[in-house]
Amino acid sequence: MISIAIDGPSGAGKSSLAKRLAAALGYVYVDTGAMYRAIGLYALRRGVPPADRPAVCALLPEIALRLAYEDGAQHLYLNGEDVSAAVRAEEVGMAASGVSAHPEVRDFLLEMQRRMARSQNVLMDGRDIGTVVLPDATLKIFLTAAPEARARRRLAELAAKGEAAEYDKVLADIRQRDEQDTHRAAAPLKKAADAVLVDTTDLDFDQSFETMKALILERAAKAAAGPQSAAGEGGGCSTV
Ligand code: DC
Repeated sequence: MISIAIDGPSGAGKSSLAKRLAAALGYVYVDTGAMYRAIGLYALRRGVPPADRPAVCALLPEIALRLAYEDGAQHLYLNGEDVSAAVRAEEVGMAASGVSAHPEVRDFLLEMQRRMARSQNVLMDGRDIGTVVLPDATLKIFLTAAPEARARRRLAELAAKGEAAEYDKVLADIRQRDEQDTHRAAAPLKKAADAVLVDTTDLDFDQSFETMKALILERAAKAAAGPQSAAGEGGGCSTV
């Protein structure tokens, strides 16, 4: 099986790029952030503060998550309800960042994520895919961009949906999420030693897409040719 791990901070374009790449390459896209968001959403709905570890842990037995692929798109079901749209709200992203710091929440999702990569070619995005979930991934990409560039893109996305937002607030939220995601003790966001760094600060969407597609096709071809030709790839500090 081919597995592509894409990690990076929020707003780097992981999910839009991963979605498009998966469609172009015929892989299944697995959005692990959406799983954390579903748990964050459940906590918010139950009035549980995301940082309250015992209270969040007590909710886990009540949560059944299911990922389904309908018309080529990933749908996420939380206790039977399709929450794919509901989990995209800003406050749910922040709640997801909070609940994702608890090791019990991470364990709860880990096996589900690994199982998905065992049975199909996947392109999985998140924060710890290359470091924890799929340490033997065919290719690991660490996708990043300067916080200011990510804030500008987020603002444009919100504007396209008709939602008004202030640049300073969006930038502050991005910085707060970066801080939380990189400084937590459990599976913090960090580049795997053998990940390829792709910095999209000065790349547009199509340039980022083509850069990543070329990396994936090259590595997948090597993997298909046999373990020896793929060995030793991607080590150290490769940068695109
Ligand atoms: O990628 P996203 O913005 O949808 O993710 C929401 C939050 O979930 C993010 O702030 C950190 C957390 N997350 C995580 O800890 N590990 C993952 N593999 C994916 C997301």
